[in-house]
Amino acid sequence: MFLYLLTLCDMALLQILHYPDPRLHKKAKPVAQVDDRIRQLVADMAETMYDAPGVGLAATQIDVHERVVVIDTSEEKNDLRVLINPEIISRSDEASVYEEGCLSVPGVYDEVERPSRVRVRARNLKDEVIEFDAEGLLAVCVQHEIDHLNGKVFVQHLSLLKQTRLKAKLRKQERELERA
Ligand code: NI
Repeated sequence: MFLYLLTLCDMALLQILHYPDPRLHKKAKPVAQVDDRIRQLVADMAETMYDAPGVGLAATQIDVHERVVVIDTSEEKNDLRVLINPEIISRSDEASVYEEGCLSVPGVYDEVERPSRVRVRARNLKDEVIEFDAEGLLAVCVQHEIDHLNGKVFVQHLSLLKQTRLKAKLRKQERELERA
């Protein structure tokens, strides 16, 4: 899939928004049609994700507010999943805790509890409806990326005290960068 994209499009690295940028909290709109514009967006998002490197990227993170996600949880980075208008159609009662990170919150990792298994429905690049079951890292990743499309960053699952401390720390870092 990734090789196919490489031959189809020229790709570009995109700038990733960093929390607490308010644009990370916009709710993304559904994609009406999978066309060349969406294929180019996906190619750029995949390149940006692999370059970072990360295991997932939602369009929201690059300031495009449409429901597009790319994920690759494989060791070899050769299993790109493109999810357009993804939705979770069922979730397990059982939950798991996983230490999450995010390209929009660099250097921050913390434990988040989510359903252990989910069933996902989405459209792919051929505009076909696909459905699959996800568990482990893939289940975490799908839920984390759909949260992004809904304007939610993983740190919003943490306690309010942790969120307040984190925002203060990140703002301080930003000021130090500006002064440097
Ligand atoms: Ni993220």
